[in-house]
Amino acid sequence: MKRLAILTSGGDCSGMNATIRAATRTAIANNVEMIGYRKGFAGLLKNDFIALDTRSVSGTLQRGGTFLQSARSAEFRSEEGRQKALANLLAEKVDGLIVIGGDGSLNGALALERLGFPVIGIPASIDNDIPYTDMALGVDTALNNIIYAVDCIKDTANSHDRAFIVEVMGRNSGYLASIAAIATGAEFAIVPEVILDLDDMCNRLHRRYDEGRTNALIILAEGAGHAQELAERLKNSVGFETRVTVLGHYQRGGAPTVYDRLLGSRFGRKAVELLLCGTKGVMVGMSASNLTTTLLEMVSTGGQKKVNDELLRMADILGI
Ligand code: F6P
Repeated sequence: MKRLAILTSGGDCSGMNATIRAATRTAIANNVEMIGYRKGFAGLLKNDFIALDTRSVSGTLQRGGTFLQSARSAEFRSEEGRQKALANLLAEKVDGLIVIGGDGSLNGALALERLGFPVIGIPASIDNDIPYTDMALGVDTALNNIIYAVDCIKDTANSHDRAFIVEVMGRNSGYLASIAAIATGAEFAIVPEVILDLDDMCNRLHRRYDEGRTNALIILAEGAGHAQELAERLKNSVGFETRVTVLGHYQRGGAPTVYDRLLGSRFGRKAVELLLCGTKGVMVGMSASNLTTTLLEMVSTGGQKKVNDELLRMADILGI
């Protein structure tokens, strides 16, 4: 292989730059050229790319987001779009492509693989819902962002005898909400995986208020409902005054944590090494701290990764 390409697709997250940097430097160390398509598959369709070298990835490791930028491309979902992407790769004499992104992007990677082009996928989504990897890029940074914000909110909750509902991201997954609840000592984690018993929650909150506790904290996963609607339902029935904070896109950005810098570096290096050894059509993952490879076919049919039941039980028990 003489020339590889890399792109970031779907929602951005911290750690993507670390991956691009590691992949680029590993390629260069092996005398292989690297190019980066801008704005994901959309850039691939427009043949919009930049040459990457040691200098161009310098200073990116500590930056959130993705300096190659990211996008969701409707055109790439069509058969014609995919054929065009393949033609562009072949015309530029690219020998292998690394796709960094969430489930939709990994499905896109699989589509190119099915057309016979060598592709490696790298899981990146703060939702941590991609199967066959313990962690995806960006999860750890997002959790640290959430925890910082919730600790700040807790100070205000304590100072005013208030209950706070903090809505966190995660699409259909309660992973961020349940881990954040454990790590902030929240009273409740409301997640899409568990049906909420609203009466029980109200009773427990009221008991807490009657005991003279100064605050209550509820972490709500966006996939389990809207914070403002929940606040309306709690109004007048829990004792505490209730306030809402929706953390939104604040969660996804910021300097990557050590964990995400290391994970991105390991994923990026491994992806290039796999391509250079002739491996293709797999996603690099992590299991018990070791790097793994799983066929993109399996990732695509693996469904959304489930939140560990034990963690959900733990969030419930420790919140009492
Ligand atoms: O998949 C990552 C994620 O941040 C989800 O948690 C969230 O629901 C979604 O992306 C938001 O997407 P967008 O940035 O397109 O609004």
